[in-house]
Amino acid sequence: MSLASIAELGDTEQLRRRVYELNKECAADIPGRGEFFSYDEYIQRRFAADGYQPEGAILALDGDALVGLCVISYVPGREWAFIEMTGVRRSHRRRGLATALKTAAIRQARGWGVSTVRTVHHRGNTPIITANRVLGFLDTNFMLNLDTPVSRDGRFDRPVKSAMSCPDSA
Ligand SMILES: CC(C)(COP(=O)(O)OP(=O)(O)OC[C@H]1O[C@@H](n2cnc3c(N)ncnc32)[C@H](O)[C@@H]1OP(=O)(O)O)[C@@H](O)C(=O)NCCC(=O)NCCS
Repeated sequence: MSLASIAELGDTEQLRRRVYELNKECAADIPGRGEFFSYDEYIQRRFAADGYQPEGAILALDGDALVGLCVISYVPGREWAFIEMTGVRRSHRRRGLATALKTAAIRQARGWGVSTVRTVHHRGNTPIITANRVLGFLDTNFMLNLDTPVSRDGRFDRPVKSAMSCPDSA
């Protein structure tokens, strides 16, 4: 098992399609997620977004197979980075992969010089909430004050979401 970013692997159309399929499979287990984006929508939201950073799109590989991802976005100049999605294929869960992926994402965020890493999740998503707490994330209400481009796809309008924040000291 190994971790590598899209920056390291090469940001190709072929890899983006594999990342899409991986994200789609993992997202099916997010409570209340509903239908997943089409590939074109996904490209717009994830890869064409202001905060997209190839070095923040971190993948877990089992041999050549993609088995997990953690995507952290960062808009230069902002004091925080945002974890867009963490997912691990069902076949590879409970082996510490999400923890390893998020740890790598937080390390990348430190490299950008941010003081805080933020994320959101469904209130009923016990696996990710538990994993986040182990990593040092704290509950926060930052969403209530959120007035940034990351809300442009409407995710923050959903009342079922809650938010967590990982201060630099964690
Ligand atoms: C959430 C998810 C990424 C966790 O991936 P993972 O690789 O299995 O997580 P880890 O092995 O690093 O687990 C770390 C800790 O989180 C907690 N945890 C993970 N899965 C859990 C579960 N199903 N129930 C309760 N706690 C869980 C445990 O404390 C675990 O440590 P332990 O295995 O030593 O007890 C994975 O279940 C997944 O892809 N879910 C669907 C997508 C999703 O919901 N993503 C989050 C979107 S906000």
